[in-house]
Amino acid sequence: MFKTFRGRLTFSFLAVILTVMVLISIFLLNLLEQYYLAYQKEILVNSGNLAAELFSGYLRGGSDLVLLSGLAENFSRQIGARVIVVSKSGMVIGDSVRVGGRLGTPLEREEVLKALEGGTGCSVQYSSFSEQWVMQVAVPLKEAESISGVVFLSYPLKGIYRILTEARYYLLIMTLVAVVVVGVLGAILARYFTRPIEELTLAAQEMAKGNLQQKIKVDSRDEIGRMAQQFNIMAERLNKMTKHLRSFAENVSHELRTPLTSVSLLVKSLREYSMPAEQQHEFLKDIDKETDRLVQLVEDLLDLTRLDKDETYIRKEKVDLKRLLVEVGSKMRPRAERQGHELKVEIEPGLSQVWSSAERLKQVIYNLLDNAIKYTPEPGKIELCAYSQDGEVVIKVVDTGRGIPSADLPHIFERFYRVNKGRSRDLGGTGLGLSICKEIVEALGGKIWVESVEKVGSIFYFTIPETLS
Ligand SMILES: Nc1ncnc2c1ncn2[C@@H]1O[C@H](COP(=O)(O)OP(=O)(O)O)[C@@H](O)[C@H]1O
Ligand SMILES: [Mg+2]
Repeated sequence: MFKTFRGRLTFSFLAVILTVMVLISIFLLNLLEQYYLAYQKEILVNSGNLAAELFSGYLRGGSDLVLLSGLAENFSRQIGARVIVVSKSGMVIGDSVRVGGRLGTPLEREEVLKALEGGTGCSVQYSSFSEQWVMQVAVPLKEAESISGVVFLSYPLKGIYRILTEARYYLLIMTLVAVVVVGVLGAILARYFTRPIEELTLAAQEMAKGNLQQKIKVDSRDEIGRMAQQFNIMAERLNKMTKHLRSFAENVSHELRTPLTSVSLLVKSLREYSMPAEQQHEFLKDIDKETDRLVQLVEDLLDLTRLDKDETYIRKEKVDLKRLLVEVGSKMRPRAERQGHELKVEIEPGLSQVWSSAERLKQVIYNLLDNAIKYTPEPGKIELCAYSQDGEVVIKVVDTGRGIPSADLPHIFERFYRVNKGRSRDLGGTGLGLSICKEIVEALGGKIWVESVEKVGSIFYFTIPETLS
């Protein structure tokens, strides 16, 4: 029962109701007993006073023990208590119990002593004479303001204790009924409360087995409802991530397989067939190109993993943008010019320093310029510009190349996405360049986007926050 949360919840309900019922019972029984005893004492004291008045007349002419005992017996019958009359000297001079009574013996009781001093004595005790609990009351017998004796009453409390026993019995039955009702209700409630937790556990178990498509019905907004909601979000994310990872691994293997197969075929041909030196040279050139592509691919993949988890990969510092742009421009110019392009670098005067990562900025600009050169087939114009706008530095790379079809534009920053796979591969591309650029720019706190018209050209923009902090 205690092993499950449901069992513990049901047991808690039972423990609470049991404690409450026991406390109420103790309190009620005590109250009832006090009330009855106070009520009985009042009746007995009144009866005692009445008897005292009656007896005082008979005591005046000396004490006739037989007469007093007869009167006591009569009175006792009417009030249901034993009546004893005690003289001033403490001797019993009248007793309603004739046979075996205390007539002629002293009655040295605390209550009697108190009554002889003018007060009212009262006690509740077990009487070995009548073998039951009794209430004993002693009141003074007064004659012309002086005390001439005591009336002692002993009332059996059997009736009261019978009522208390009955009350105890009813309370016990009520407690048992309450325990059964609360037990059943508690079990139902506990089941109702814990059902979502069980569902969550089952779903988590399924996920642990690799079955990631789990969704729990959320029908409450309480803590458990919110937990179920978070679980659903987590399951969905995990599912997406796994799918993403799977397709990424598929893409990587595919990208690796193509150059590796080419290299393997070329090497086999070189080994197995004799061919003129010129052709051999061509084959070796192809092998060199494919290996370069492989190295580039592995480097790009490494960049992606570093961007994911290596915090030192992006180390921010004060960057002099002007110097950086001029440096990258000069490094790329010979390559651009070799293909007949003109490469211009235009920087807005007074461009401030930025708090960024010089190495990563260079990487982004190299990638964009590399694309601009690669995807501009005819001799064209390539521009690298930087200007400040709305608290940001905007850097743009403009080309007059083949442009990007509008259908491809939304996907251009996705990993391995290429407008024309064959062409990109021939040009040594991996399809990872722009996705790396996007991740770097976003990690540096900026945005990257593109405007392009097919056969006219493209403009790639990215921003860097201008603040030096
Ligand atoms: N300046 C550009 N002009 C035309 N197409 C471009 C340009 N830059 C990128 N692209 C297209 O976007 C694709 C993705 O670019 P990128 O991620 O750098 O891959 P890669 O350069 O390895 O092919 C390219 O394959 C190409 O089709
Ligand atoms: Mg590229």
